[in-house]
Amino acid sequence: MSMTERPQEALSRDPRKIVKDLIRRLISLETRKKLAIRVNGLEWVAKDRRSWWSRELIRDLAGENINEYHRFLWLHHLAYAAPYEVATRFGDENIEKSRKMFSQDLVKHLVSMKIDPGTEIRSIFEVGCSLGYQLRFLEKNVFLSARTIVGIDIDRYAVMTGAEYLREIGSKVSVRYADMLDLQKELAGKDFDIVLCSGVLMYLDEVHASEVVRVMLRHTGIMLAITGLAHPHVDNSGLLQSIPRERDLAFIHNIDSMVRRAGGKVIARRWDGANLVDGHSIYFVFATKD
Ligand SMILES: C[S@@+](CC[C@H](N)C(=O)[O-])C[C@H]1O[C@@H](n2cnc3c(N)ncnc32)[C@H](O)[C@@H]1O
Repeated sequence: MSMTERPQEALSRDPRKIVKDLIRRLISLETRKKLAIRVNGLEWVAKDRRSWWSRELIRDLAGENINEYHRFLWLHHLAYAAPYEVATRFGDENIEKSRKMFSQDLVKHLVSMKIDPGTEIRSIFEVGCSLGYQLRFLEKNVFLSARTIVGIDIDRYAVMTGAEYLREIGSKVSVRYADMLDLQKELAGKDFDIVLCSGVLMYLDEVHASEVVRVMLRHTGIMLAITGLAHPHVDNSGLLQSIPRERDLAFIHNIDSMVRRAGGKVIARRWDGANLVDGHSIYFVFATKD
């Protein structure tokens, strides 16, 4: 209840909100972060309830530092990170249709550049690779001659379980823990034929996402391929600034403009507006150095 609020008004409010506000006022953010991790481990609580509490316990962090809010959830495999598991992500049948469309488009645009994906691509790097399932799919089905296939991700659990699985099946894909905010350090002195980043930039605000695009482009040999959240009504290339999505506070960016500001050239793109494929909106950007 606020200082100016009468008791009846407070009682008419959503009781869950009252509890949430009280918890946030009485318990420090640092302690609530630990609680969010603990709650997630309570097997007897339904998954969606655990996910809700993990987010709600630290929601005020989103107002203070939106990048840190998303970073914390991914780092600890909480809330929207929880469904990322080896059993449900690896395997051709588990690759989402929107990601298959992305790789088909990538192949099409490489071919239009007179590059044979099966024989001419030697190295691939993925930013935000999770367990490494997309890289594995590409290793097996698309970039058959690639020798270096590397991914980084901040979700420690996903990287650990994904790396173990990839080792077991004898894949060339290697995944490791790293924060995309440290990408320049990660990529220093290295270039990759293909750099991929799908469904990841949305967890950074415009300034930081633009910087990641700049670094990725600098280290791209042939093609940089990115997917982002599509704005449902306006082609993202027309957005004057990034917009946080209400549901999960992830950003809808103008990636075309980020590429151009980084000195790159958008050679192909796709924006499908409100159309959803497996629950994902479709906004792909394929770029090269200018
Ligand atoms: C929606 S998932 C997409 C996974 C995969 N790229 C795909 O296309 O299916 C977003 C991924 O970005 C990763 N991520 C989020 N913030 C990150 C950061 N700061 N550094 C590295 N990875 C990050 C998450 O851990 C998660 O694996």
